[in-house]
Amino acid sequence: MKKKKENNFIFFPKDFFWGSATSAYQVEGGNLNDWSQWEEKNAEKLAHSAKKYWKSWQRKKFPQMLYPDNYICGQACDHYHRYEEDFDWIKSLHQNAYRFSVEWSRVEPEEGKFNKRELEHYRQMVMALRDRGIEPFITLKHFANPLWLSKKGGITNSDYPRLFTRYVQKVVQELGEFCQYWITINEMMVILYNAYLGKKNWPGERGLIKAYKYFRMTVKAHNMAYECIKKECPRAQVGVAQLLNFWEPANKNSFLDRLTTGAARYFSNKKFINAIKSKLDFIGVNYYFHHRLKFPYQQVKIEGKVSDLNWEIYPKGIYKVLQEVKKYNLPIYITENGLADAKDKYREVFIKDHLFWINKAIQEKIPVKGYFHWSLMDNFEWDKGFWPRFGLLEIDYKTLARKLRPSGKVYADICATNGFKFDK
Ligand code: FCB
Repeated sequence: MKKKKENNFIFFPKDFFWGSATSAYQVEGGNLNDWSQWEEKNAEKLAHSAKKYWKSWQRKKFPQMLYPDNYICGQACDHYHRYEEDFDWIKSLHQNAYRFSVEWSRVEPEEGKFNKRELEHYRQMVMALRDRGIEPFITLKHFANPLWLSKKGGITNSDYPRLFTRYVQKVVQELGEFCQYWITINEMMVILYNAYLGKKNWPGERGLIKAYKYFRMTVKAHNMAYECIKKECPRAQVGVAQLLNFWEPANKNSFLDRLTTGAARYFSNKKFINAIKSKLDFIGVNYYFHHRLKFPYQQVKIEGKVSDLNWEIYPKGIYKVLQEVKKYNLPIYITENGLADAKDKYREVFIKDHLFWINKAIQEKIPVKGYFHWSLMDNFEWDKGFWPRFGLLEIDYKTLARKLRPSGKVYADICATNGFKFDK
């Protein structure tokens, strides 16, 4: 393949956003919502099932997965109190953007009662970013729900779109003056497949009818929130962050494998975006997975390198999914991409290889405008708990000290020079 410019130096466009991402529940600490309630009930069970679920090399390397404590988020990284320190890190790492989420259960702890202090907290965070020249990208809903909402049936409640939009309006009225980029909802399809149609029981509801309602309500909620944000703040750019997997048939010559792959691709990658595409200013791409499928729906075993979570590392897939979303003719941000790699063995190469393929997409006029590495720091990885280490910054969970991983330094150099020398 053709590499770019002198000495294989790969350049990115002038106004490219370089950043990293987190979500409130995973880093803030001290949150009370339907996830914290769910983990209380399920920590024992998760610790127990880890014995069967994870491979022996993973259990050996990360024995904490066998203990219930691992599954309790608690103070997480205490980002809620340490955000200034974390933003100093972002600045020193030459990142010019930060994706984070506002926690709905803080802002509206009781239905219809908004907490001014918490809104002010997020305003302070945004100002602290602005002071450091860092562009905020705000996610309004990253999975968890306030308890009062989940008691009413959560997202399947037909009043959910209105309730979500009322919360969004409050946040945008508070922060809109200082923020341009908004992500309404993170990875809605993941919840649909894993929870409503799959085996994981957060948020505690399952079944086809529920799944259908969840889909419809989420589409409606996004569309209403979009209108509301644009009204409050006409210069706002509004999108979603969607998990986009690279699906491939196990055997390209098999019609049935191709059919299976096409169906998987349609439901996981396209259905939601198609439903909301008239109310989108950009597409946020979260890329982690490559799947090779056999009819009727069987995953072919992974070859090659894997992360600590046993997720295959397949950088070219990001280019493939970018080719897929090109047709929407919208700006694209890579809103998440990263790996669990406690020893920092693969992260540097992972970042460079993914950026190489992103750059190739840009050369081919696919409008990728920014890259957010998942994650700025190690954090609480939902039903897997604390052992998967996704951070550019390593967290010592005893002292909560942050320490830069070597790959974090490499990424910082890329951000500073707006490119890197690709030596493959
Ligand atoms: C994504 C989620 C994010 C994090 C990463 C590893 O699916 O959006 O919160 O858990 O996976």
